[in-house]
Amino acid sequence: MVVNIAVLASGRGTNLQSIIDNVDNGYIHDANIKAVISDVRDAHALERAKKYGISAVFIDPSEFSDKSEYEKELIKKLEEFNTDLVLLAGFMRILRSEFVRFYKRRILNIHPSLLPAFKGLRAQKQALNYGVKVSGCTVHYVTEDMDSGPIILQECVPVYEDDTEETLENRILQKEHEIYPKAVKLWVEGKV
Ligand code: GRF
Repeated sequence: MVVNIAVLASGRGTNLQSIIDNVDNGYIHDANIKAVISDVRDAHALERAKKYGISAVFIDPSEFSDKSEYEKELIKKLEEFNTDLVLLAGFMRILRSEFVRFYKRRILNIHPSLLPAFKGLRAQKQALNYGVKVSGCTVHYVTEDMDSGPIILQECVPVYEDDTEETLENRILQKEHEIYPKAVKLWVEGKV
């Protein structure tokens, strides 16, 4: 069976790129990236998708009366692409229970900290502020509680005295680009 993947992204899409590259080079096999969906019209992630002939879809949140209506549209679109697996890659919206239940055990997310530490926004800054000496990234299942689903893979990086949010972000990002494709491969092969 070929797994149909859809990626939800709001920004630059470097994690999306790492998934595209690893599908292209055959590391993740028996999978297609069917669509990239964004809530941001000019998200660079959409440009990346188009470059590879992947359907790029913008769903405008301002056209929906509330979050639930937006998510219904999201599900409708994802179903049009026969989506088996939803990957969140810098998608800046919290998904509510209806959506999460619909794709139970079929939504993965990457977060730039060693969960359960530093959930939520600007995890790298939270890590620096706390003064931890090691941080990293986590791929996990998405459940109804934010950044709290079962952990699939983690990788750590050192935190240095002179780190800025940006230097730490870049160090973590390199590891993100390794473990997200790895986790997707495991999921696709039914090994999670
Ligand atoms: C990454 O740091 C990821 O961990 C977080 O959002 C960021 C997305 O970056 N969830 P990119 O758009 O994949 O470059």
